[in-house]
Amino acid sequence: MFIGSLSKLLGGSNLLDRRSHEPRATPSYMCSQPKAACGEHQQTPKGESGVHGKMKVLNVVGARPNFVKIAPILRAFEAVNARPEIGRVESLLVHTEQHYDDAMSAAFFTDLQIQPSHYTLGVGSGSHAVQTAEVMRRFEPVVMEERPDVVLVVGDVNSTAACALTAAKLGVRVAHVEAGLRSFDRSMPEEINRIVTDALSDFLFTTESSANENLQREGHPPEKVFFVGNVMIDSLLACRRMAERSTILERMGLTPKRYGADYALVTLHRPSNVDAVEPLAAILDALAQLSWELPVVLPVHPRTRARLQEFKLTHYVDPLVLNGTPVVIRPGRISLFEPVGYLDFLRLMSAARVVLTDSGGIQDETTCLGVPCLTLRENTERPVTMTSGTSTLVGTDRDRILSGARGALDNGRSALTLPPMWDGHAAERIVDVLVEKVTGDVPRQAFYHTAGSE
Ligand code: UD1
Ligand code: UDP
Repeated sequence: MFIGSLSKLLGGSNLLDRRSHEPRATPSYMCSQPKAACGEHQQTPKGESGVHGKMKVLNVVGARPNFVKIAPILRAFEAVNARPEIGRVESLLVHTEQHYDDAMSAAFFTDLQIQPSHYTLGVGSGSHAVQTAEVMRRFEPVVMEERPDVVLVVGDVNSTAACALTAAKLGVRVAHVEAGLRSFDRSMPEEINRIVTDALSDFLFTTESSANENLQREGHPPEKVFFVGNVMIDSLLACRRMAERSTILERMGLTPKRYGADYALVTLHRPSNVDAVEPLAAILDALAQLSWELPVVLPVHPRTRARLQEFKLTHYVDPLVLNGTPVVIRPGRISLFEPVGYLDFLRLMSAARVVLTDSGGIQDETTCLGVPCLTLRENTERPVTMTSGTSTLVGTDRDRILSGARGALDNGRSALTLPPMWDGHAAERIVDVLVEKVTGDVPRQAFYHTAGSE
């Protein structure tokens, strides 16, 4: 399915100029000459605005976790623009629409106060090759039209790798936020996206020391690597108070009076867990068993919802419609509901006794919240969430999940030790580095480590 259309917010006006997302037949500055021999290509890396005091950045989002990561970066660019002594940064947002349901996309623009994207590419779902190719096909004319100094991509989804590849081929510098993470498991589509994106990036912004080590081992020059911290944690810290006002617990009947806000929160969407019947059935079996001990609630990802039907596993769940229909919570059943927005989810995570998940970002977030996290995987690209944080790998074996859950319920929360640089200022550091390296301005005392300087 391919949806939507390409739009651009013109000159700060509220009027959307919705244009065709089809690429033009003759791109204005694509050229077959080698970079060094071509005047246009030589000009491209700096874009039209890559002169002292001016810079243009295309920020890319596509899927749910990307919105959480981009929000603080967009705010940090705005903050630079509020300082007249520093040159203007033109920061544009491109949404590929890899995710397009309101609950997977629009809800995050609202909760995270992200302004409407300047371009929406209407890519939608598809096989890996189709989705990746379609993002590239639709992103290329945007890059050619805007001639940015930098294309900034976050995370490890198909849109990340596709836009990095498109930009690099047009000679535009790529900044990768959350670089260097490795699960060392190439059966994970995200691992391939991480490796490809890092290989193409000029700025590698890392969240934890394992990422610095991985990049060093792979031969990335240290001067490209900036240890800045975790933008997901920037969002979490910025939104935590707002999330306390969420009424999700009351709407779900998970009030302290009824259950002592005592429940297990689950998310599940990794293809290795949900696209085959055996691991999915084993996980659901463990969760249904756990639900005899405390309510087990699962905001269900669309991929998983489809597999539950396809594999006829719906007997494990009570399907819920949150808005309008009362939530059914009963022993022996997993309480299923639609994915919720960021603030509701943050509230749900903060109050949970235990989180069981195969999400990448949620391992980081539970570490910051101090909530025990059982990671339903055999590996993680985020080892700091195990060494400093609250995450334990439990895989997909039924008994291992259950004993992990019981251990977490018995032990409760432990004292918080946040990984270095997870302090809410990662986005500012990223923007500092980009402004300094691209325009020559030094916006503030840069406070980041280059790889190896920790
Ligand atoms: C993608 C990312 C994954 C990330 C996850 C976050 C890749 C390879 N995977 O996985 O790294 O952890 O997003 O949630 O980029 N669908 C809808 N509505 C939507 C979006 C998707 O119904 O708004 C359904 C479609 O049937 C689609 C399926 O979900 O085929 C999977 O979507 P897709 O974006 O391909 O992968 P995710 O599993 O969401
Ligand atoms: N999230 C959310 N609502 C949900 C499930 C997740 O807001 O119903 C948030 C979560 O807090 C985190 C992000 O979505 O910020 C993680 O996305 P996901 O698990 O889809 O992707 P991953 O991190 O695995 O790539």
